[in-house]
Amino acid sequence: MTPPSGFDAEPTPDAPDAASDRALRPKRLADFTGQIPVTHNLSLAVEAAQLRKEQLDHVLLAGPPGLGKTTLAHILAAEMGAEIKETSGPMLEKPGDLAGMLSALTPGAVLFIDEIHSLKRVVEEYLYSAMEDFRITIQLGEGASTQVLTLNLPPFTLVGATTREGQLSAPFRSRFGIRERLDLYSAAELTTILTRSAKLLNVEADAEGLATIATRSRGTARYANNHLRHIRDLAQVRYRNRITAAVAEEGLTHLGIDHAGLTELDRRILHCLARARRSVGLKTIATTVGEEERTIEDVYEPFLIQGGYLLKTPTGRQITHLGYRHLGLKVELDEQRTIF
Ligand SMILES: Nc1ncnc2c1ncn2[C@@H]1O[C@H](COP(=O)(O)OP(=O)(O)O)[C@@H](O)[C@H]1O
Ligand SMILES: [Mg+2]
Repeated sequence: MTPPSGFDAEPTPDAPDAASDRALRPKRLADFTGQIPVTHNLSLAVEAAQLRKEQLDHVLLAGPPGLGKTTLAHILAAEMGAEIKETSGPMLEKPGDLAGMLSALTPGAVLFIDEIHSLKRVVEEYLYSAMEDFRITIQLGEGASTQVLTLNLPPFTLVGATTREGQLSAPFRSRFGIRERLDLYSAAELTTILTRSAKLLNVEADAEGLATIATRSRGTARYANNHLRHIRDLAQVRYRNRITAAVAEEGLTHLGIDHAGLTELDRRILHCLARARRSVGLKTIATTVGEEERTIEDVYEPFLIQGGYLLKTPTGRQITHLGYRHLGLKVELDEQRTIF
């Protein structure tokens, strides 16, 4: 399925419209919370490039949806004082699509390709010479009258974002001088993000209210902001525009989010594993809970694994002790199985 617009098209179940997402997006590195090793490396790279008066090296940003990859791509362009052009892997169907974008770049521009793992092989290979030598070849005409034209490009920075770094070929990965992986946020970091968002959304929120949302947002900035927006509506309508722990609690309950931050679908995944009482393949889980394999793997599993509810083993997925307890089930052990 090709998304209608290339960006913000991650399979998050409750992705907001792009405009409200953009409104909360930090514009500079200094406003970007957490991901310390990543921002440290990026700011160093930006400074060095500026000292050399060169474009920034190509950057690959990997990690689950909603952690700030698109935001960082925009920040990098802003920090470099460069323009940014956005597209996504599924939108670039043939080398010609890419040639058009590349030749229209201004010197030093950032070309942001979201979902870069889904680039077609021919488009990917076409990018290689653009990335390495800032040069592309264009084929004019067909058959006997074919002419090949080499076009020099202005130096540019390719910023690629991916939820599936493992799907990138080794030659492609190695062409990015800077490769960074984003991790889930801590509750404290999400509280900082929410404090800023609450100000931008003009809603009053006390520390407990924000902490309640932060601890139940699956380590994901986008979820935290989405929850905040929903709870702001509730606060405006019923609670004089003030978010307390009790208001947050009420709003999160409406959304089907439990005390640990798990959604209805997280719980269905765990129930499926608990019933199986052995390792279960991704395909079976997907069929049982009625969600795409890719979405389960990219969106749901990272948090279930990090939270210690689910384990990935060579034979499939298993529920942990904590997972059983979370569902209020008695842990069932059998001989063949180790439960952690
Ligand atoms: N480190 C951060 N600090 C503040 N807000 C963030 C941060 N990371 C993400 N966000 C917010 O979360 C939302 C989703 O981020 P986005 O960059 O679209 O994620 P991704 O591209 O990784 O899916 C954005 O609206 C942005 O406001
Ligand atoms: Mg994105």
